[in-house]
Amino acid sequence: MADFVAAIDQGTTSTRCMLFDASGKEVGKHQLEHQQIMPQAGWVEHNPVEIWERTSAVVQTAINAKGIAASDLAALGITNQRETTVVWNRRTGRPYYNAIVWQDTRTDKTAAALERDGSGDLIRQLAGIPPATYFSAGKIQWILQNVPGARADAESGEALFGNTDTWLLWNLTGGHRGGVHITDVTNASRTMLMNLETLDWDDRLLALFDIPRSMLPEIRPSSDPNLYGQTLEAGPFDGAVPISGDLGDQHAAMVGQVCFAPGEAKNTYGTGNFLLLNTGTELVRSNNGLLSTVCYQFGSAPPVYALEGSIAVTGSAIQWLRDQLKIIGGAAESEALARSVPDSGGVYFVPAFSGLFAPYWRSDARGAIVGLSRFNTNAHIARATLEAICYQSRDVVEAMEKDSGVHLEVLKVDGGVTANALCMQIQADILGVEVSKPVVAETTALGAAYAAGLAVGFWRDPDELRQNWHEERRWRPQTTEADREQGYAQWKKAVARTLDWVD
Ligand code: G3P
Repeated sequence: MADFVAAIDQGTTSTRCMLFDASGKEVGKHQLEHQQIMPQAGWVEHNPVEIWERTSAVVQTAINAKGIAASDLAALGITNQRETTVVWNRRTGRPYYNAIVWQDTRTDKTAAALERDGSGDLIRQLAGIPPATYFSAGKIQWILQNVPGARADAESGEALFGNTDTWLLWNLTGGHRGGVHITDVTNASRTMLMNLETLDWDDRLLALFDIPRSMLPEIRPSSDPNLYGQTLEAGPFDGAVPISGDLGDQHAAMVGQVCFAPGEAKNTYGTGNFLLLNTGTELVRSNNGLLSTVCYQFGSAPPVYALEGSIAVTGSAIQWLRDQLKIIGGAAESEALARSVPDSGGVYFVPAFSGLFAPYWRSDARGAIVGLSRFNTNAHIARATLEAICYQSRDVVEAMEKDSGVHLEVLKVDGGVTANALCMQIQADILGVEVSKPVVAETTALGAAYAAGLAVGFWRDPDELRQNWHEERRWRPQTTEADREQGYAQWKKAVARTLDWVD
């Protein structure tokens, strides 16, 4: 009798394997970082082979440390950084190029050209998202145009595309000796190539980017009783585990946070920041700079949609304080440093390192620190960084309320930055809304495990999963409305200073 479900969470900076029991409790975990490759300004790459090796290593360590065998695992779920693009050869298994990461802005001219020639509206209508460097299609096109041999191999069906979920699924199930080439509806909805209504690749979108259909994976539900495959006996699990859950990390966090009803929302503070609102089986289109996306699809049930506000830079702004400015030794120090001052001393920091995502979608924006005077110190910059994380979320919440008419009563939060209690208090203050954090903060991996476990009957239904959700802490707004609005007005002025920076 299998007592556990495993999840692989392939994120932007690290990969982790987590093991959960039936109550949703974590029983094992291992995590390893991988290299961030930045060959030039605006370019961000990962080595797909390194990602596969790290995945194998975290799986082996997590299961061996707990003495867990493949037969103890009812299922495996995969969740991943979305949009990041891998193209590899079906016969050799070798990537044609490094993975081009979602943050990479090398395709900004392509995105701007699509907007100029009127294709932007077609993309918005079919895929629910605006043309932007963020999504996979431009990245695939870049590889086909710039790597010798890639286009010919794509035309002949020899080159395969996948996000990192597909890359791991393929490797886990046998790689060039017969691995499956599959993705799920949530990941496919981030490529700019899937039609949000038919849930299939759309020939009009493929034509815009000149991408052959033969290189694209089969699109399946996020939780699939038919299974995507089994892990290879000779692979990292050392046995066959049914793989039955696959969804993008933000969608997995929705499942982990049990946001199963329309109107339920969560905000995940990771490398970036992603606020999703469940809109039910209705596809809601945004007029305010949000994305329409598939929230999840369980088995043969109709897909559930979401509105999403994606923010490119959150935890990575704190990393920037550590690695580039060197004003803190580790992420945890950002809280103590920011607490050493009562406010940001008039400083506003707009971390538009990858341009600005939602609700602005301006790839011509670049970061700015404004409002400086001689009085200001490192502490003000640290505090302004935490405020920036929260102001960006307010921008998205405002857009979401306009699009959906739903007024948030409570914001469910998760992800690394929620360990920073000051940041969460600032979030409650800036939004004027209560902020609630669950006991299991690893909601992304938990959501992937839930999707996999639901498919094989390890959990009965979403209602059973609701019983596993417990609040750990709640932050309540402590500022006056006048202060809140004045601060937000200054933030908007700061954002305006970052636009039109790149020609
Ligand atoms: O869209 C990008 C997102 O999926 C990355 O998430 O948590 O790896 O920053 P994360």
